[in-house]
Amino acid sequence: MSRPGDPTGEYRHAQPESPLVSGPPALDRHDRVHQPGRAAPEPATAPAMATTTAPATTTVPATTTTTTTTTTTTATARARARTSGEAAWRALVAAASAPYRPSGRHAFHFARNKLGGDPVFRHVLERGLIAPRAGILDLGSGQGLLASLLRAAGRAAHEGRWPAEWGAPPVDARVTGIELMAHDVARAETALGPDATFICGDMREAEFPPADVVVIFDALHYISAAEQEHVLERVRGALGPGGVLLLRVGDTAARRRFAFGQWVDRITMAVRGGGFGRLTGRPVAGWRDSLVRLGFSVDAYPMSGRPPFANLLLVGRIAPELAR
Ligand SMILES: C[S@@+](CC[C@H](N)C(=O)[O-])C[C@H]1O[C@@H](n2cnc3c(N)ncnc32)[C@H](O)[C@@H]1O
Repeated sequence: MSRPGDPTGEYRHAQPESPLVSGPPALDRHDRVHQPGRAAPEPATAPAMATTTAPATTTVPATTTTTTTTTTTTATARARARTSGEAAWRALVAAASAPYRPSGRHAFHFARNKLGGDPVFRHVLERGLIAPRAGILDLGSGQGLLASLLRAAGRAAHEGRWPAEWGAPPVDARVTGIELMAHDVARAETALGPDATFICGDMREAEFPPADVVVIFDALHYISAAEQEHVLERVRGALGPGGVLLLRVGDTAARRRFAFGQWVDRITMAVRGGGFGRLTGRPVAGWRDSLVRLGFSVDAYPMSGRPPFANLLLVGRIAPELAR
C-alpha cells in the first residue's frame, strides 16, 4: 500500500513500526479531495523533482556494435539511490540548524541538539507524514525548528539528495507557526525570513488558518484539559478532508517515565523563561478518544528519545470524504 504523500509507492520504505493504538485504516492519498481555495498537497514524483535538477535525464548509448540499446535513467533517481539515510539526516540537521547561528550560540546549539536528538523530526520525514506542498499549522512552534527542517528537506529533495527508502519529501511546504514566547518567534523569524510565517500568540485564542497538516509537538500539556479540547475542536475545523494532525504528547499511563518527563519539562521551560503552571497529561486512551470523537482515525507510536520519556506521536487523519 502506498504511504501518505506517496500514492505512487515510489518513495516506498521499510514497514512502519506497529502503532500502539490504531483507528480505522490509514487513508490512501489517492482519495484526497482537492478543496478550492486551499492548496491541495500533490504527490511528489521523481520527475517533478527532476525538473529542478539538471541534467534530469542521461541517455547512455550501448557500446556493442551488434545491438543498439539505449539505457535511459534519471540523474535524480540515481542520486537518490546513492543517498544513505544516515548521511542525509546528518546533512539535514546541519542545514536546518545553521540558520540559527545569527541568533546566538544557544539558539544554534539548541536547534542542532533538538533536531539531532529528538526522534520525532526524523520520523516525520522518513515516513512522509507531511505531503509535498502542504500548508502546515504548527501550534507552539518554539523557535521554528520544524519549519527550518522542512525547508532544508525541500531543498535537499529538489537537489536530488533524498534517500530512496524515505517517504515523499515535503517539498515547498508552507508553515505558519503560532508561538506564545516573543523571543522564540524572533529566533524563528531570523532563521526563516520570508520562508515561513510566525505569529506571536496564544493557541487558545489565535485564529487558525486552513491547513493540510496541523502539528502540535510537546505544547498541548501547558493548557487545561478543557482548553485542550477547545484547541483540538478548532484544529479539526482548520483541517479539510484528508487533513492530518501530528500530535506529540505524554502518556500518563506510563507513570514514572511521564513524571520524569514532566520534571525535565518544568526545568527546561523555567530556564527558557516560560514558567508555565500546572501541566495536564492524559493516558493514551484519553487522547485517542478525544480525537476519534472529532472524526480522526488515530495511530499512536512511541516517540521518546533518550532519556526515555513517555512520549507518543499520535497521527490523526480525517477521511477524505468528510466535510469540515
Ligand atoms: C516544549 S516547546 C516545543 C516547541 C516546538 N513544538 C518544538 O518541538 O520544537 C513548547 C512550546 O509551546 C509554547 N506554548 C505553550 N503554551 C502555548 C500557548 N498557549 N500558545 C502558543 N504556544 C504555547 C511554548 O512557549 C514553547 O515554545
